[in-house]
Amino acid sequence: MVTNRTFTMIKPDAVAQGHIGAILEKINAAGFKIVAMKYTQLSQRDAEAFYAVHAARPFFGELVAFMTRGPIVAAVLEKDNAVADFRTLIGATNPAEAAEGTLRKLFATSVGENAVHGSDSDANAAIEAAFHFSGREIF
Ligand code: CMP
Repeated sequence: MVTNRTFTMIKPDAVAQGHIGAILEKINAAGFKIVAMKYTQLSQRDAEAFYAVHAARPFFGELVAFMTRGPIVAAVLEKDNAVADFRTLIGATNPAEAAEGTLRKLFATSVGENAVHGSDSDANAAIEAAFHFSGREIF
């Protein structure tokens, strides 16, 4: 089944480097509508919960430290085929392998500090959106 919403975060590296505006412009230009958005910062507990699926991975500590070190922008995006199309827009997890013109090719510096998050499935998009937003904050 194809649904129309995905969840994204502009990560602390991209926020600190002043890329929020450029990234949002590319998201809009690619046809995504922003239906929820907030500027926020993850606590240690938030990041450990959000990334619980990666808890056993060797990079987990590094990931939590990175994602809590500064503000992020969290958003819910709407478009036909949102999850897959947004994964195409952001590019491969490792920016060295990301296609030209993708957000990670343009704005990410490493596999860990990769500028933008995009949900990997419709089910996770719903879970991740609900992690950050109440029903009243999504339009
Ligand atoms: P993302 O796919 O948004 O969510 C999981 C994150 O874990 C991923 O982005 C990276 O930020 C991070 N990650 C994945 N693989 C590695 C790795 N090999 N080393 C460090 N961080 C990683």
